[in-house]
Amino acid sequence: MVKTIGVLTSGGDAPGMNAAVRAVVRTAISKGIKVIGIRRGYNGLINGDMYEMDARSVSDIINRGGTILYTARCKKFETEEGLEIAADKVEALGIDGLVVIGGDGSFRGAADLARHLDKRNREIACIGLPGTIDNDIQCTDYTIGFDTAMNTALDMIDRIRDTSQSHDRCSVIEVMGRHAGHIAVNVAAACGATAVLCEESIPLENREEILRNKLDELARKMMDERKTGKTHFIVVVAEGIGHSEEIAEYLHDKTVEIDKNENGVTDVDNCGIISRATILGHVQRGGNPTLRDRVVATEMGHYAVQLLVDGVKNRVVGMKDNKIVDFDIQEALSMKKGYQKHLEDIVNEISF
Ligand code: F6P
Repeated sequence: MVKTIGVLTSGGDAPGMNAAVRAVVRTAISKGIKVIGIRRGYNGLINGDMYEMDARSVSDIINRGGTILYTARCKKFETEEGLEIAADKVEALGIDGLVVIGGDGSFRGAADLARHLDKRNREIACIGLPGTIDNDIQCTDYTIGFDTAMNTALDMIDRIRDTSQSHDRCSVIEVMGRHAGHIAVNVAAACGATAVLCEESIPLENREEILRNKLDELARKMMDERKTGKTHFIVVVAEGIGHSEEIAEYLHDKTVEIDKNENGVTDVDNCGIISRATILGHVQRGGNPTLRDRVVATEMGHYAVQLLVDGVKNRVVGMKDNKIVDFDIQEALSMKKGYQKHLEDIVNEISF
């Protein structure tokens, strides 16, 4: 059985990471395992920035956003030299298990470290926990932080809606998700958006042209809906599409064109639909984790240590059909993630 485990958070932080760290630390201690907290992701492993954690190290953190272990992306860890130094530290401290809370890149790092130690005839059992607001990890339906981020985005959109309504405007709101539209499509459904623009349904090839056609259709739709009494509009844009300012400007220009050419409007103050862009940005990564994120993080953290206790190694923990499961790291990295296209279809179908 493992005797000493390291725990680290890596990549972009996500609300619920602290709850996961707490579960890992407390579960390990309850089983007589020593826990080393590694600061700033793999950087801490290279720089020796680590400390022994006890039960009190994780008091009063279950409700806090961010990560008490700090986080970072570590380029040096992707090099032989970095892995060599990290492997030395692991050996010196007798770390025989490692729990990594982060995304795909972080899991790849864990697999590399295990391979590197294997060359020295040393074993380290690595377990990855999915922690990212983007929900873009292939092997799991759910990642720690996703629910909190969506709720934060939704709260912000509700606020924007107030001012959008007062001014009869169109609000173009960009949400995070790197190259994934999971946050976008969910908050679009939850706020009753007029449209949602995600990479998943706008292929990279001919993206500009497809996007332009979509925006032309959208401007037409908004103008038609205005005739039925609709006064304001919300368009959710996924980070991967970006260009929210330009999208807002384009929609305004198009609606002005329609008003001028088809409706004969000459009054500049009442021509077209004024559009404004808001990029929600990093506000989505902070804040107290929701109940769902705390519960999932707690379950996953506990499960990770149980795997180590059972002698299982090099796995990524995930959630499938609401059950906690685990996959081989390489298998997890090669899996393909679905996109909730049906939500996008519903948004389009019932917004009129
Ligand atoms: O945590 C994921 C994420 O929030 C992505 O949605 C975004 O692209 C990225 O991180 C930005 O991270 P940073 O500003 O830390 O580089």
